[in-house]
Amino acid sequence: MNRQDQNLNILNEQVVECILCDLSKTRTHAVPGHGNTTDKILMIGEAPGKNEDLKGVPFVGSAGKILDLALSESGLNRNDVYITNVVKCRPPGNRVPTDKEIEICTNNYLKKEIKLISPKVICIMGVTALKSLLGYGNMGKYRGRTINHGSNKYFVTYHPAATIYNSKLKEIFFADIKKLHQIIKKDSNTMENYF
Ligand code: URA
Repeated sequence: MNRQDQNLNILNEQVVECILCDLSKTRTHAVPGHGNTTDKILMIGEAPGKNEDLKGVPFVGSAGKILDLALSESGLNRNDVYITNVVKCRPPGNRVPTDKEIEICTNNYLKKEIKLISPKVICIMGVTALKSLLGYGNMGKYRGRTINHGSNKYFVTYHPAATIYNSKLKEIFFADIKKLHQIIKKDSNTMENYF
């Protein structure tokens, strides 16, 4: 295991034991990021739901099924990407995490995850990740776009859960994940054309 993965494992152990906010009092399991760091695609959702809280693994419920399907239709699969959330513990009743919860979790974990993985591209899934990482609240304006911000490259799409009952959004989400694969599968020179 390389140094980066060792440090990521240490960070994820800290996530599992974290008591920095009150979500630690109501969770079953904290949910650290999970997946492959070699292909350098980092996908970021909002926060664990019920199934993730029970299993301690991100995106294993109904939103995860959609994500898996979109990845496989694009020619990728879960083992090709690293998946994490802005907030690592389930907010009670699946409410949106508060600004304070987001601030604590991004400062202590998400920013460090991003640094350690040093992704080629970060796929923002949903408005909570969009706001937390880029400060933008308008998904309609940024969805489908590639964005350079600081030293990172971002691609913005819907949260898979938002597409569950909306076939139009689902179609767009699936097309976005195909575009994400196009962006990263080319050599890095071609990737620059997207940004
Ligand atoms: N929704 C998320 O944002 N993350 C998960 O892990 C599951 C559902």
